[in-house]
Amino acid sequence: MTPPYPFSGDVGELHTDSDAVTLVDVGGGYGQAIKGLRAQYPDIKGRFILQDLAKTVNQIDVDQAKTEGFEPMVHDFFNPQPIKGAKYYHLRRVLHDWNDGPSIKILEATRSAMIDTPNYSRLLIHDFVLPDIGCGFSEAMVDLIMMQVCDGMERTESQWHELLGKTGFKIVKIWKADAGTTAVIEAVVV
Ligand SMILES: C[S@@+](CC[C@H](N)C(=O)[O-])C[C@H]1O[C@@H](n2cnc3c(N)ncnc32)[C@H](O)[C@@H]1O
Repeated sequence: MTPPYPFSGDVGELHTDSDAVTLVDVGGGYGQAIKGLRAQYPDIKGRFILQDLAKTVNQIDVDQAKTEGFEPMVHDFFNPQPIKGAKYYHLRRVLHDWNDGPSIKILEATRSAMIDTPNYSRLLIHDFVLPDIGCGFSEAMVDLIMMQVCDGMERTESQWHELLGKTGFKIVKIWKADAGTTAVIEAVVV
């Protein structure tokens, strides 16, 4: 089930300047998430940028992306985030591919673009947020699969707090879906 996003009722008023960047979808693949966000929240102003590796981004039709409301851009998320001061930096199903070592590097590289706008820029992580005890069988299996396939992991709420705390972020709110364990973690630079 898709969790809610923290786009408040006045988010359409975020930018009067259409050149300002509203959302950067870091490791956004072929646009699976950003297309859905554009369709679900059509009134949000500003630019939406999708970043991924060249082998992925080069397969996106730029004109089609434009009609769908986003701009593809090649960027390796282990390097400092080049789009500074966007409103939202969005990581969907990215960090569960990585254990804490690489995840810290990705978060620090993203944070570097947010440090000058700490009261404005927000990090949104869309991933599983497991309970600290008593997680379901299927989520436990996914966790084991992520470990075997890519040395990744699903994380509990405490593990998210710890990981984000280590990288200079503070969780503002966890937006949970009505059912299941998928959530959007909203965090700010401390
Ligand atoms: C599990 S997919 C998630 C895609 C998308 N965010 C979604 O929710 O469907 C992980 C994405 O991370 C991208 N990726 C892997 N390493 C990357 C890197 N170093 N820099 C940028 N993107 C990377 C992959 O190409 C892939 O599109």
